[in-house]
Parts: sequence; structure tokens; C-alpha cells
Amino acid sequence: MDQTGQAGGTQVGAQGAHADPVRGDILVVEDTPASLQLLSRLLTDAGYRVREAPNGELALWSAQAQAPELVLLDVRMPGIDGYEVCSRLKRMPGLDEVPVIFLSAHSDTDDKLRGFQVGGVDFISKPFQFEEVNARVQSHLKIRRLQQQLAAHNDRLQKESRQRLAEIAHLNRNASATVYCAALMHELNQPLAAIMSNAEAAELFLKMNPPQLDDVAEILSDIQRDDRRASDLIQRMRELLKKSDPVVQKLDLNDVVRQVCTLLSGEARMRRIVLEMQLAPQVLPVAADPIQLQQVLINLVLNAFDAMAQLADGARAVCLATRRNGNTAEVLVSDQGCGFPEGHERVFESFFTTKPHGMGLGLSIAAAIVQAHGGSIWARNNADGGATVGFALPGQP
Ligand SMILES: Nc1ncnc2c1ncn2[C@@H]1O[C@H](COP(=O)(O)OP(=O)(O)OP(=O)(O)O)[C@@H](O)[C@H]1O
Ligand SMILES: [Mg+2]
Repeated sequence: MDQTGQAGGTQVGAQGAHADPVRGDILVVEDTPASLQLLSRLLTDAGYRVREAPNGELALWSAQAQAPELVLLDVRMPGIDGYEVCSRLKRMPGLDEVPVIFLSAHSDTDDKLRGFQVGGVDFISKPFQFEEVNARVQSHLKIRRLQQQLAAHNDRLQKESRQRLAEIAHLNRNASATVYCAALMHELNQPLAAIMSNAEAAELFLKMNPPQLDDVAEILSDIQRDDRRASDLIQRMRELLKKSDPVVQKLDLNDVVRQVCTLLSGEARMRRIVLEMQLAPQVLPVAADPIQLQQVLINLVLNAFDAMAQLADGARAVCLATRRNGNTAEVLVSDQGCGFPEGHERVFESFFTTKPHGMGLGLSIAAAIVQAHGGSIWARNNADGGATVGFALPGQP
């Protein structure tokens, strides 16, 4: 194969070498030894770090051993040709984004099209002018580096926003801690009272003559069961309040609604609100973090409670309904309260509140959590008064 690097190239190289000692790590793949050496020397003189590969196999091996920043790849080579090398590179993890510039003596339109189809970014015809090679290499390296910076920047932003969401969500969870504590105390009362009356009964059985040991054994197992119930409750509360990374698992949405109703039943009783469930008859499997889903629901139900504060006793009711809707599983929280204010699209924004002591975080956190689960959330006023807030999550098989 005959091609020549033109004299001008070395000149550019000399300038480049002063500007930046290492301008890029380039893998040159070319089967003709003379061309390989020439291109390699010109690029080295121009300040690039150059690796040489005399055929496709060695090129792939070298790229895998250490990813180059750019590949100059001859199209026609014995063994695997340039197109094949390129498409294999594009399938290798970590190498798929490395720009590949083809070098070809037969660069008609079809050749070029094929080169772009297998993932090449540019085409240089042989015999080449080194100035052209250098200019194209430089601009593709620049594009690649800018892309990398952008991706790193994006990653950082995403990480920061996830962290911020986690912090705010935790804050909101702590703010609801009083409600959880009230619910916990109420819930704990039941097993504790049962344990106490069982213990008293056991004492009586033991005082009998002869002591009724069978009855005592039965009572002890009841006490153990109640104790487990109490510690489950405490555990659930602990999970709700601790700062932990979300763990996505397969859940029945109906179960989550039941748990939240149990958790908030004490609060509902205190506020004289009837908490009603209308659950879909079938299981509603979703993939979600259970604690985060509980948090969404707690925020919606507490809002519904707040919305009915001014209503007369006996008129306060909140309904939690679930249903399957196509491929999604939905929860709807409806109340008969004051309804959303005018221009209520803003209620999902952080810090939007109409309450004197509200933080304006509940709905924005609910929305962030639902969206992070691939779902959607909406809010609307009911035709017959009050409001409904619903969310849908992708259903699981
Ligand atoms: N069920 C509802 N009925 C009527 N208005 C509602 C309802 N839910 C939310 N809103 C309105 O949306 C606003 C934002 O709700 P959001 O839960 O985000 O914040 P908040 O309840 O004010 O404060 P917090 O951070 O304590 O939840 C509320 O202040 C209220 O005006
Ligand atoms: Mg709220």
C-alpha cells in the first residue's frame, strides 16, 4: 500500500508538543509496517502517546488491556478487517465510547457508510495529509473529552440530587415522627395490655392448688406472641425513622395500604376521622421500597386529615382505594375536605403550603418517590367536594 505523510505534519507536531506534552493516547492499527511506522512517528512528534497494532486481533487485545482515547483504524487488513474490529470494540464494556477514525484507500460512499454504521466517527482517505489526520484527531479527542466531562458533571448532579432527596425525605419523616409515635403508642397499648392481663391470669393459675401448669403454659405462649407483636411494631417504627438506602422489593400494594391504615388508625381516632379502605380484590404486585411507599401514603393521608379539620364531627371520612388499571396499580386517597386551592398545579412543588405550620414538603416528596419508582402522581378536586390524590406504579407480573 502506498501512502505518504506530507512534510507539513512534523511541523504541526513540533508546535503541538510544546503546547501540551501528551495530547492523547492513540491506538494506530495498520497492517503495512511502513505506513504504521510513519503514522506512528508523525503522531508521536505531534505530541500524542501512540500505541501500534499490526492487525485486528492485536488491536482488540491492546485496547482491552488499556483503553485508548482514540483509534486510527485501517479498513483493509488480513484477518479481521477494520469494520469488524470497530464493531467488536463497540460491544466491549468501557470501549464503546472510544472514537474510531477509519483510514482507507478505497473510500467511496459505501465504504464510508459502512464505517459509520459500525460505529466509526470519521473517515480519512489514503494517501493522507498529516495536517488533516492531526486536525481530525484533535477535534475528535476534544469532542470525546467534552462528552466525558459532561457525563461526569451529569453523574455528579444526579448523585447530588439523589442525596438531597434522601435528606429532605428524611427530614419529612422526622417531621411526621410525632404522628408515628402517637400511632406506635396506641398500637403498643394493645399487646402490652394483653401481656399484663395474661400475666395476672398466670399468677392466679400458679396460686391454685395444685397449680394449673397447662393453662400457664398456654398463657406463656400467648405472652410470647404479644411480645413479638410489640417488638414488630417497634422494629417497623425504627425502620421508618432510620436513614437507609431504598431497597426495592416485590410488594402487594394492598398490604402497604393496610399497614398505613394500621399505623394511622390512632391518629384518625384522635381527629375523629373515619378511615376506610376499598381494596382491589386481587393482589397488586409492584416493585418498590416499602418504607418509601408508606411515606408517600402517610403524606397523602395526613394531608387528607388536615383538609377536613374544619368539618363537623361525623362528616370526616378518608377513603384509601386501590385498583388495577391496565398495566399499572393505583392508590387513590379521597377526602371530603376543603379541596385544593386555586392554581393547585403548584402543590407538588417543594415548600408550597397553605398551612400555618406546613413545610410544603409532603407532596413534593411523594412525587419524587413515585417518579423514582417509574410511576406518576396526580391531584384533583372531587365533583362533590373534597379532593383526591392518586398515584400509579408500574404493575409486576
Ligand atoms: N387533600 C388535600 N386537600 C386540600 N388541599 C391539599 C390536600 N393535600 C394537599 N393540599 C394542599 O397542598 C399543599 C401542599 O401539600 P404538602 O403535603 O406538600 O405540604 P403541607 O401539607 O402544607 O406541609 P408538610 O410538609 O407538612 O406536608 C397543602 O398546603 C395544601 O394547600
Ligand atoms: Mg402535607
